[in-house]
Amino acid sequence: MVRLLAMKKTILALGSLLPPEMKRLESDFNVLKLWKMEDPEAELQAQKNNIVGILSTAGGMGVTRRMIESLPNLELIAQHGVGVDNIDLEAAKDRHVMVTNTPDVLTNDTADTAMALILAVLRRVVEADVNVRAGNWRIPLGASLTGKKVGIIGLGRIGASIAKRCEAFEMTIFYHGRHEKKDSSYRYFSDLEKMAQESDILVAACPGGEETFHLVNYKILKALGPSGYLINIARGSVVDTEDLLIALSNKDIAGAGLDVYEKEPEVPDALKSMDNVVLLPHIGSATTETRTKMGELVLNNINAHFEGKALITPVKI
Ligand code: 8YV
Repeated sequence: MVRLLAMKKTILALGSLLPPEMKRLESDFNVLKLWKMEDPEAELQAQKNNIVGILSTAGGMGVTRRMIESLPNLELIAQHGVGVDNIDLEAAKDRHVMVTNTPDVLTNDTADTAMALILAVLRRVVEADVNVRAGNWRIPLGASLTGKKVGIIGLGRIGASIAKRCEAFEMTIFYHGRHEKKDSSYRYFSDLEKMAQESDILVAACPGGEETFHLVNYKILKALGPSGYLINIARGSVVDTEDLLIALSNKDIAGAGLDVYEKEPEVPDALKSMDNVVLLPHIGSATTETRTKMGELVLNNINAHFEGKALITPVKI
């Protein structure tokens, strides 16, 4: 009997999982790694009819309408990450392409990253470390966390997890979002400017995309005030970078802690030259444990789809 070798389905990878999960993906699928292509345009043109899935990375390369419409047999976009603002969801919907992401497994680590930035900025940890390494025993006076008022933009899974951590640091929690959460005990502000006026620390924890584009602008930063701090672990697009640079250089705010930027991996040189900011390279979910769980969830979604089973974490589009 001629054994028909089942042709492996083809997945276009725009980003990578950790090696063990990537190996598992490559054992079950024919994986085209965009970053390894010498001539992406030509290779994608040659493979366009074979590609049935895309592995995409949150905060990474855009999965555009043009890309989605250029792949006639595309069935699934599996996001490695929770944010999906880099995916044209309308185009996916128009083409009946399913989209999955990796929520929940990365909530705690991303919330921890927000706390790391709050501690680093308020207690001037990075500056102190640099001084010690340079042989300077200087003691920079920072700001206490205890008793500070934290205004969280977006009380979703990550925002709520940050709030819990801030409560443990004896801080008062406010939040802003489209709607008040009836089951939340935190004070709700429908007006972001008013929340900024009342807050010592503003934490952006909302999704990226059109609705939140440049939500934090000069008006908001001015309202936060000269003893206020901005923390962004959401998306660079949430903050108007030019306005932030003005506010920081004018000392309209005391400092900022950033894990995300509008044009990642580019970071404005002006930001790098400031000593009242702490800059991280989008490490929100970057732990071995969490990236392993994210990779497993990506694999489970991909396998579920192509085995005709229910998706584990579908994105509603
Ligand atoms: C990703 C992120 O997890 O999940 C998100 O939305 O912003 C990131 O933390 C990371 O970029 C891996 O894709």
